[in-house]
Amino acid sequence: MAFEAFACLRILLFFVSVASFYFVFVLRLKPWCSCEICQSFVSSTWSLEFSNLCDWYSHLLRRSESGTIRVHVLDNIITANPENVEYMLNTRFDNYPKGKPFSAILGDLLGKGIFNVDGHLWKFQRKMASLELSNLSVKSYAFEIVVSEIRSRLIPLLSSVAGKENGVLDLQDVFRRFSFDSICKFSFGLDPGCLKLSLPVSEFAVAFDLASKLSAGRALTVSPLIWKIKRFFNLGSEKKLREAIKLVNVLAEELIKHKRNTDVSSHEDLLSRFMATIDDDKFLRDIVISFVLAGRDTIASALTTFFWLLSNHSDVILAIREESDRVMGSKNRDLASFEQLREMHYLQAAVHESMRLFPPVQFDSKFCQEDDILPDGTFVAKGTRVTYHPYAMGRMERIWGPNCLEFKPERWLQDGVFKQVNPFNYPVFQAGPRVCLGKEMGLVELKTVALSLIRQFDIQLASPNQTLQFTPGLTATVKKWFACGGTRKESIVLAVVQSKTSNRMQI
Ligand code: HEM
Repeated sequence: MAFEAFACLRILLFFVSVASFYFVFVLRLKPWCSCEICQSFVSSTWSLEFSNLCDWYSHLLRRSESGTIRVHVLDNIITANPENVEYMLNTRFDNYPKGKPFSAILGDLLGKGIFNVDGHLWKFQRKMASLELSNLSVKSYAFEIVVSEIRSRLIPLLSSVAGKENGVLDLQDVFRRFSFDSICKFSFGLDPGCLKLSLPVSEFAVAFDLASKLSAGRALTVSPLIWKIKRFFNLGSEKKLREAIKLVNVLAEELIKHKRNTDVSSHEDLLSRFMATIDDDKFLRDIVISFVLAGRDTIASALTTFFWLLSNHSDVILAIREESDRVMGSKNRDLASFEQLREMHYLQAAVHESMRLFPPVQFDSKFCQEDDILPDGTFVAKGTRVTYHPYAMGRMERIWGPNCLEFKPERWLQDGVFKQVNPFNYPVFQAGPRVCLGKEMGLVELKTVALSLIRQFDIQLASPNQTLQFTPGLTATVKKWFACGGTRKESIVLAVVQSKTSNRMQI
């Protein structure tokens, strides 16, 4: 009886605290705001003119004199102003942490992993991971993984459909499988085999996919209270999320246990390396899961949009082939070495140019800790979400000039040599103390994969002239299906035809 009364009291207390929190939350969001931006956001009328929310934001940011806008109903400041970006990511880094709202969203999946924490927990992991990732043997281990995945799986898979009538491949799916295999081998020393010729279903990949998708979906609810209540009562998407995370945990725990019973001193994967200094198995799991999340979808997204752009720019394909023939020899069928890649400035420029227009992380938010004023004069109240927007920044005339919407790798070259730009003008890998830890590794992976396919196949869109539509989430993912005149059409697919001189294929 006493137990039941206590349970009722608990539920009552929960609802009272939810109601009061909700009241304060609603007051803060200003749901009554009648400004043009908020009205368009609330009524979704922006979608009448723009295919993607990021395109609408880019339009607004281009129109704004300061390069900054406010969406009052979300209590969100969005900026594409490089001075503001430098200020929040570097100058006042301490005042713009990821913050509790973000950590709560990904907390069940990522725990205390580097991607999801601030303060000393972040500093400790950052130091440890930076040390490992700058190690030469770790870099060559990562490169070997990529090379072996391309040789033994990616090329055989594409060759298996090349020349076949109606032979189609969903390119995005292929790249997601590729990057999942690669990052799992790198992080855990585990091969899920997603890109084997039969394209098998991996239990781990499915659970991980579902867990990251549902976690990101939490950010789309009008108020965090909605998913928190669903989680409390274990309902709907929250129930599915709990089950998916449970499966990820079981697999990770088994793997860690297995490694604890094996001599891992000669193993190169991150998990084995971190095991030498960390005894807490839950913390270990959190650290490597963050790497899987950070290093998987970003690579797949960058490759998908790069090939989408290339399909319309045969001149860029030609220039990449010419450069690689010069560096590697035109008859060389092998993959480029580390040193050869370094000599290919045009390829480096093309990959950067592609991510300027289609950054894998389209926007990223921080939560302001203390009242502040941004360099452009925007007042930021404590607790406000401040978002920098690499997608919009790549489309700003004031940063990239009047041809900012054109795909022009040459803009990155000076006398044929690749030149870096100010990272706060191009925060595709973020910038400042929290810049992406896998930047160099990711660029090598992108270039190796892209070059191997460009040298062996011709790739074109199966349905040309389509615009890209993205699904909302942490990373830019192309919508797999889009509505077209009442029917559903595949948006990214590969069709393959063979030519006499080379394997030729179409996406
Ligand atoms: C094209 C490829 C990639 C892009 C565009 C990219 C972009 C980014 C961005 C924008 C962030 C900041 C996210 C945030 O703080 O919310 C980030 C962080 C991070 N990335 Fe990458 N990334 C890429 C590849 C990789 C790869 C391959 C790895 C793994 C080896 C990786 C590991 C990380 C880690 C660990 C962080 C967290 C760093 C920290 O919080 O200190 N990334 N990345």
